[in-house]
Amino acid sequence: MGEGKGWNCSVLVLLVFSALSVSLAAQSTNPASRPLASPVRVADAVCAKCHQEIFQKYLSTPMANASGLAVDKAIPGKFQHANSGVDYGVTSKDGEVWLHYVRREEPRLEGKQQLLYFLGSGHLGVTYLYELGGYLLESPVAYYANSQSYDMKPGLTNVRSMPPALPVTRGCMRCHMSAVQREVTGSRSRFSGLPFLHGGITCESCHGETAQHVTSGGKTAVLNPLKLAPQQRDSICINCHLEGETRVERSGRSVDDFKPGDNISDFISYFVYDREGHSSRGVSEIEQFSQSRCKRMSGERMSCMNCHDPHYSPKPAEQPAYYRQKCLSCHAQPKYASAHHSENPDCTSCHMPKGKAQNVPHVAWTDHRIRREPDRPELLDRTPAPSGLVSFLSGEASPRDLALAYYNVVIDGNTLERDRAWRMLEAAQKANPQDAPVLSALGYMSQLSGNTAKAVEFYRESLKLDPNDLIAENNLAILLARSGNLPEARDIWRKVFAVNEDVDGPGINLSLVECRLGNKDGAMDVLRRVLVYSPDRQIARERLAAIESGQEKCAAPAAK
Ligand code: HEC
Ligand code: HEC
Ligand code: HEC
Ligand code: HEC
Ligand code: HEC
Ligand code: HEC
Ligand code: HEC
Repeated sequence: MGEGKGWNCSVLVLLVFSALSVSLAAQSTNPASRPLASPVRVADAVCAKCHQEIFQKYLSTPMANASGLAVDKAIPGKFQHANSGVDYGVTSKDGEVWLHYVRREEPRLEGKQQLLYFLGSGHLGVTYLYELGGYLLESPVAYYANSQSYDMKPGLTNVRSMPPALPVTRGCMRCHMSAVQREVTGSRSRFSGLPFLHGGITCESCHGETAQHVTSGGKTAVLNPLKLAPQQRDSICINCHLEGETRVERSGRSVDDFKPGDNISDFISYFVYDREGHSSRGVSEIEQFSQSRCKRMSGERMSCMNCHDPHYSPKPAEQPAYYRQKCLSCHAQPKYASAHHSENPDCTSCHMPKGKAQNVPHVAWTDHRIRREPDRPELLDRTPAPSGLVSFLSGEASPRDLALAYYNVVIDGNTLERDRAWRMLEAAQKANPQDAPVLSALGYMSQLSGNTAKAVEFYRESLKLDPNDLIAENNLAILLARSGNLPEARDIWRKVFAVNEDVDGPGINLSLVECRLGNKDGAMDVLRRVLVYSPDRQIARERLAAIESGQEKCAAPAAK
């Protein structure tokens, strides 16, 4: 989801020491009783008094169960990860769910974490979250509905050790949880209290503030999405159901401030490639739907709600009749109800077939393009190759947003757009020299092309405006460390690490400069903290052992 861009390729090259191993005892037990976020059935129970039927129906939808308490969806199981030799187990006992991990061979490893929350209603799978030192982290193993068993999280199958800590950010939670809180300043995943107040998508996620409605016994109006102007109505679903090829927050705006009733395009611009014929990418039912003839010919009067009741998810056996009746509400000519393929009452089986990628999250399975003959791809694939990014459902894109969109696709790997991104970013910076994301992007582009001095300059300017841009901070520190300015690099990494102990890169870099500057105890302390969160981080373990054994001296540099 675009998290952590620019990290991997830019972490300071680490020195390699000879392999030494230490075994680490189990650490981290969580206090058994602590306040937890409440699930929808508790958070919204107050609505049940007057909206009993809607409340009851809603409780069994995937959205109401998009996340919640781990005890409510504990799936005990175990699994051995061959590549890393780590045995994982999930157990449930006395109202507590635990993740255990152990490797009996050297380097030995053993520990456990109390799982507090689940994420994923489970038709694809379930993943779990735990908390450590105020940081919200995701379990490296997930349950897969397909195989009905545990395995590594997607993308982690080939790791050769237990993966470093996996921070859960607000970016992730805003679509899967409700009443998400601000993290501690400068941190990505540390919260001073609950990270979110409710598991699952609560009524307020779509209906906005309800306090007055409730206290007035239903007399004060509450927002009904269908009574909003089309753009605001659609914004509510778009907020969580659209990603586009890439997206850019409007200058000075944060998508986290969006509330039902707002226009999502005031907060964020979505971009897709022009002439893109058949997207099935990330959360893109909306992209597909907007290409459908049904939508294009119906215009604003048609929305997701023509087919979906947000409070109700029909069971598989009900679906053919359920959706057929929705189709017939518009396709009212008698032939559709009688003659047209009367042998098969399931309109969607022909016009909205399901794709194959059914075990990948964030990919549309049901083809929302609603085509005449979806099984004839030749009718579709004649669209010429895309030539550029265009704004999608967000009005006209500002040149600044478009510049950052090209920057995003470059760091996602499309190096062909480097020149265009650079030119547009430069123009955007000319137009507004005080735009932190633009300056930070120019810094990274300069770094990519080897212009270190320029990169340092851009990062410094950017950090003056936004002192907590983690990527600018870390990259600046790397450039400073490489150029020999260790004290300033250390100061930056100390600040970063103080509130991001779960992100292993800055910690390992910090330990390296502490050691080079002669602060042996400081270097060891940092490495021990890295290992609390990422207990199998080999480089941290080896460096700690090397310092402890005296092989690495951490001698202060000789005075000039
Ligand atoms: C004490 C009873 C009561 C409670 C509690 C209550 N409502 Fe209502 N609600 C009503 C009444 C009565 C109406 C109908 C008002 C009308 O039609 O003018 C209503 C209407 C609504 C509507 C439709 C508004 C419209 O303009 O179409 C929504 C949405 C709604 N309530 C949501 C909620 C939510 C969400 C909660 C819980 C946070 C809740 N209500 C709690 C009594 C209640
Ligand atoms: C823009 C909103 C959005 C963001 C951000 C987002 N998700 Fe999702 N996620 C969804 C939607 C909507 C679905 C269900 C529909 C789909 O798969 O297209 C989903 C589905 C999932 C599922 C599958 C659930 C199941 O049981 O089928 C998992 C697991 C998941 N997301 C994890 C994550 C993680 C981890 C992150 C953060 C890295 C994340 N999501 C960020 C919107 C989002
Ligand atoms: C995913 C978005 C979403 C969520 C979550 C949601 N609603 Fe709604 N709600 C809508 C939309 C859209 C409408 C208007 C369309 C409709 O009536 O189906 C609506 C309409 C309503 C109405 C008025 C229409 C009617 O049938 O009476 C009430 C009452 C209501 N919702 C209550 C609730 C309550 C209570 C909850 C939580 C238990 C809830 N909603 C959760 C989107 C949502
Ligand atoms: C706060 C974020 C959020 C909002 C707002 C939201 N959704 Fe969802 N929706 C999700 C997530 C997350 C899932 C996947 C849950 C899972 O399976 O774990 C989902 C799943 C769904 C599904 C598939 C499951 C089902 O019920 O069959 C539909 C359909 C859906 N949403 C429609 C809508 C519509 C229509 C709206 C606008 C009225 C809307 N959503 C608003 C987050 C959201
Ligand atoms: C809100 C009204 C509405 C709903 C609901 C609706 N459609 Fe349509 N649909 C239209 C309109 C309008 C057209 C364009 C009619 C025309 O081309 O004459 C259309 C066109 C189509 C086409 C022709 C597509 C093409 O490329 O030529 C198909 C197939 C179709 N609809 C199937 C469905 C199915 C199946 C459903 C139910 C899952 C459905 N529609 C629901 C309004 C709707
Ligand atoms: C013409 C009818 C129709 C419209 C309009 C429609 N959908 Fe769907 N949608 C379906 C059908 C049919 C399914 C498959 C239901 C199932 O298998 O559970 C589906 C499934 C989904 C799913 C589950 C994941 C998937 O791809 O199977 C999500 C999420 C979803 N729709 C979101 C939306 C959103 C958001 C909108 C509005 C932009 C929307 N849909 C508009 C018919 C429609
Ligand atoms: C067995 C597969 C199948 C089923 C089931 C089916 N259709 Fe079709 N439909 C087709 C095919 C193939 C075409 C294109 C050739 C034609 O017009 O017959 C089509 C064409 C259409 C068109 C476009 C007609 C035009 O003149 O462009 C609409 C609208 C439509 N279907 C709606 C529906 C609706 C509504 C249902 C359910 C009541 C439905 N279809 C059920 C296969 C199906």
